Amino acid sequence: MRLRTLATAKTLGAISRFQQHVRGLETFTLPDLSYDYDALEPAISGEIMQLHHQKHHQTYITNYNKAIEQLDDAITKGDASTAVKLQSAIKFNVRGHVNHSIFWKNLAFTSEGGGEPPHGSLGSAINQSFSSVEKLIAKMNAEGAAVQGSGWVWLAVDKELKRLVVETTSNQDPLVTKGPCLVPLLVIDVWEHPYYL
Ligand SMILES: [Fe+2]
Repeated sequence: MRLRTLATAKTLGAISRFQQHVRGLETFTLPDLSYDYDALEPAISGEIMQLHHQKHHQTYITNYNKAIEQLDDAITKGDASTAVKLQSAIKFNVRGHVNHSIFWKNLAFTSEGGGEPPHGSLGSAINQSFSSVEKLIAKMNAEGAAVQGSGWVWLAVDKELKRLVVETTSNQDPLVTKGPCLVPLLVIDVWEHPYYL
């Protein structure tokens, strides 16, 4: 009897996941980092990297998944009011997941990245748009520091202007909210939580 109950629960779970997939309501899991938490020391402490990844990024994913399940339930019940109310949490948390997923890939220890200023086509584009890599760094630092509250500072390609640009976004807003022609190259998290230790 217990086996039958478990089998039924498993089947219902599979059906529910299939329904979510058909509706495009897929859930996420925390992506692994390609380096150890302490790999960036002394620039960034391993302890804050672990907290940032396992606590803060995980929370966006947990809250998104929870909201998606509630949305699925609301759609099944035809509860439009709840479905509408969930949009804000879904938007905020999925953006937090996407922004952090880009951010982790920006970071590297000096044996694998950083150090020398970029050269080749990226170096030329930086020089053309900002005069030098030092001026780009100063601009990103200044614009990141000027973000009120929480947000992100981005280095991006503007496909329309055919040049690099620096943009900022608030809270968990993605770069696309600043324009459809912007493609992110680098993003810095200027919330307090990556640095509070
Ligand atoms: Fe963050």
